[in-house]
Amino acid sequence: MNEVKNESNETDEEVKNESNETDEEVKNESNETDEEVKNESNETDEVKTLDIDTEIDSLPGLGPVAKKKLNEVGIFTVLDLAVRSPTEIADRLGSDLSRATEFANKARIKLVKMGILEKDFVPASEIYKRRQAIERISTGANSLDDLLGGGIETQAVTEFYGEFGSGKTQVCHTACIMVQLPKEKGGLDAGAVYVDTENTFRPERIVSIAKARGLDHDSILERIIVAKAYNSSHQELIVGELGRVLDDKNIKLVIIDSAVAHYRSEFLGRGTLAPRQQKLNKFMHLLTRTSEARNLAVIITNQVQSTPDTFFGDPNKPTGGHVVGHTSTYRLYLRKAGKNRIAKMVDSPYHPEQEAAFQLNELGVSDLPDDAPSKRRKL
Ligand code: GTP
Ligand code: MG
Repeated sequence: MNEVKNESNETDEEVKNESNETDEEVKNESNETDEEVKNESNETDEVKTLDIDTEIDSLPGLGPVAKKKLNEVGIFTVLDLAVRSPTEIADRLGSDLSRATEFANKARIKLVKMGILEKDFVPASEIYKRRQAIERISTGANSLDDLLGGGIETQAVTEFYGEFGSGKTQVCHTACIMVQLPKEKGGLDAGAVYVDTENTFRPERIVSIAKARGLDHDSILERIIVAKAYNSSHQELIVGELGRVLDDKNIKLVIIDSAVAHYRSEFLGRGTLAPRQQKLNKFMHLLTRTSEARNLAVIITNQVQSTPDTFFGDPNKPTGGHVVGHTSTYRLYLRKAGKNRIAKMVDSPYHPEQEAAFQLNELGVSDLPDDAPSKRRKL
């Protein structure tokens, strides 16, 4: 116990020293910057009022200049800071990694104290309790919900991969509507953010699915925030800046359709594989951390590539390699079966490998008609 106390004193000392240092730095940087900071913070206040306790400058040692730099990349609150990687924070601040890591750790500790993040060491019973509290969003088809253990989970990244026309974008459109339903109807009474990287988001499709489901399409459209991402860096920026939108609105679902496409088209040739994977890895981890820290569901879509050296089984493999495979919590492989679609659960930590059949129709994603052959089977 004493040890802990000593240690915390020591840290406080360090913090004090550091904050003095930062203040010095700030003073040296021209008054103009101070002015800018002032103006900008007024502007921010107009957009939305942040909880003072959770603003980044509530962290000891983080002065106005650092605050401004971080604000520019969408880091406003302690939670925004905690979900970014220390390398990114260091890049932004132009500081060394250890200083950035310290800020990230301070942010994390603060959130643990506030009960927003988990402690580092927790009994399994606590994790079990937290997992029990996970919420689920219906996909629109009972068969697919069953396959997912009740629907698309919050605090997780669910990946749908499959060839063109297999229904990935339709799953995303339907989920944007389903999340808005009340809990007893399979939703979370919340909105969605749709990050559209392939220009395939269609509000008309939302309207027609909403109408077919007897819902008020105007209010449904109102609660879907769409962001078009023009390249991989833009896509990363959008997800990095999500914090602001998420705080303002009650958002429980974030969709990235598709997560990998930009990386594939921008990084061509074998020589670029390493930097591509590194960038993709950073992006995927940002998604995972966001889903956990903010208790929301993330859906990503992914294409397939054919591996001609496969002699047995399906030659279609998801793109993105191990990076995407390891960071997605659940992976579902969608394939066409005539007019219907089959989803297969691949690589889940606890679901058995099963398949479910569903349809794409005016309801978006829906169950097969009652007379259809077996909807779900164990492999
Ligand atoms: P890529 O993005 O090209 O890789 O494909 P995807 O997997 O995203 O396919 P998407 O979800 O766009 O599925 C396209 C399929 O959905 C079409 O082939 C149709 O079968 C179905 N579909 C799309 N729009 C409608 C619609 O308005 N009504 C009906 N009944 N089906 C639709
Ligand atoms: Mg698509």
